[in-house]
Amino acid sequence: MLQHMTLLYASVFPLVFMACATSNPQEEALLQWKASLADANSLSSWSPTGSSTCCSWLGVTCDAAGHVVELSLPSAGLRGQLDSFDFAAFPNLTKLNLNNNSLVGDIPFRFSKLPNIVWLDLGSNYLTNPNYSRMSPMPTLEHISMWGNKLGGMFPEFILSCTNLIFLDLSKNAFHGPIPDALAKMTPNLVYLNLSWNGFSGTIPRSLAQLPNLQDLRLGSNIFRGGFPEMLTTISTLQFLSLSNNTLSGSIPMGIGNLTSLQYLSLSNNTLSGSIPTGIGNLTSPGAVK
Ligand SMILES: *[C@@H]1O[C@H](CO)[C@@H](O)[C@H](O)[C@H]1NC(C)=O
Ligand SMILES: *[C@@H]1O[C@H](CO)[C@@H](O)[C@H](O)[C@H]1NC(C)=O
Ligand SMILES: *[C@@H]1O[C@H](CO)[C@@H](O)[C@H](O)[C@H]1NC(C)=O
Ligand SMILES: *[C@@H]1O[C@H](CO)[C@@H](O)[C@H](O)[C@H]1NC(C)=O
Ligand SMILES: *[C@@H]1O[C@H](CO)[C@@H](O)[C@H](O)[C@H]1NC(C)=O
Ligand SMILES: *[C@@H]1O[C@H](CO)[C@@H](O)[C@H](O)[C@H]1NC(C)=O
Ligand SMILES: *[C@@H]1O[C@H](CO)[C@@H](O)[C@H](O)[C@H]1NC(C)=O
Ligand SMILES: *[C@@H]1O[C@H](CO)[C@@H](O)[C@H](O)[C@H]1NC(C)=O
Repeated sequence: MLQHMTLLYASVFPLVFMACATSNPQEEALLQWKASLADANSLSSWSPTGSSTCCSWLGVTCDAAGHVVELSLPSAGLRGQLDSFDFAAFPNLTKLNLNNNSLVGDIPFRFSKLPNIVWLDLGSNYLTNPNYSRMSPMPTLEHISMWGNKLGGMFPEFILSCTNLIFLDLSKNAFHGPIPDALAKMTPNLVYLNLSWNGFSGTIPRSLAQLPNLQDLRLGSNIFRGGFPEMLTTISTLQFLSLSNNTLSGSIPMGIGNLTSLQYLSLSNNTLSGSIPTGIGNLTSPGAVK
């Protein structure tokens, strides 16, 4: 019956039929994902009715040609999974922000097929590990935030393929094992690195000192051991350094006085000894040294 009516419709209004037949795969993909969610109340504008395209839907930004380039739905109260999100429908997506929702389940490894993705924020959800070994290299990524999820296992190897990475926040997860020594070499543009509140262990790689633009290094509340890596005192761009609540031992290197840009330093709850030279960097405000 339905088929019959469609055929009839097509013969009377061929243009309408054509529009339906070529319906936008981006819209279909978004509607399919919406339908899979247990709570999508905030997405009432995501509806195929009328002449509007998905470009006017909440959180969706398109380029002039109608390709979806951004999907930004932070704090939208979404509950559900990413499983039925058809990443292949969004070859032009540069920014995906789903921060602070209630997404559960594995991050689908298919997300690594986004050829133009620059900005990825999946922070503050309940997401679990993708099968990292099935992911493709993601050299276009510059910003990755996955803090506050349920990710575990070793340092995710795919990050070593993100050769343009500037910002990386994996804090508040359950990762363990060492920071790969190759990180600094593979992601030379890093400015911000937050691995706090995990179970990362081993020694802090001296190679981090080779990051020429590093400003913010947060490695607190892990189980790093060994000495304060003297090499870190050569990172002249460093403004924020937290190594607190690890099991670091030995003395604080004198060279720390060379960190002239430093504005915040936290070394508490380790077994470090020695003193911090007065007058280093901008550590003038009370409480800046912990
Ligand atoms: C997270 O999202 C909820 C709505 O689901 C909102 O009430 C809360 O303020 C958000 N938190 C942050 C830090 O944005
Ligand atoms: C958008 O995607 C299409 C299809 O993959 C491609 O031809 C086009 O170059 C892309 N545009 C941008 C700005 O990446
Ligand atoms: C992950 O992917 C690899 C490669 O496709 C496969 O061999 C392996 O069984 C997968 N692991 C899991 C836990 O699914
Ligand atoms: C990054 O690390 C700091 C510890 O220095 C922590 O307080 C902060 O909340 C972390 N960032 C996020 C987005 O969780
Ligand atoms: C210090 O780290 C341990 C895990 O190594 C964690 O259980 C504890 O809550 C942390 N304390 C603070 C103040 O961050
Ligand atoms: C501080 O840096 C200068 C110049 O790089 C270097 O010669 C000196 O040894 C450093 N000081 C310490 C205590 O490492
Ligand atoms: C101290 O901080 C001010 C403002 O934050 C900045 O302009 C200045 O360059 C800093 N000085 C050093 C030595 O980093
Ligand atoms: C200090 O570190 C130890 C382990 O090294 C941990 O058990 C303890 O909870 C930490 N204390 C604080 C206040 O974080």
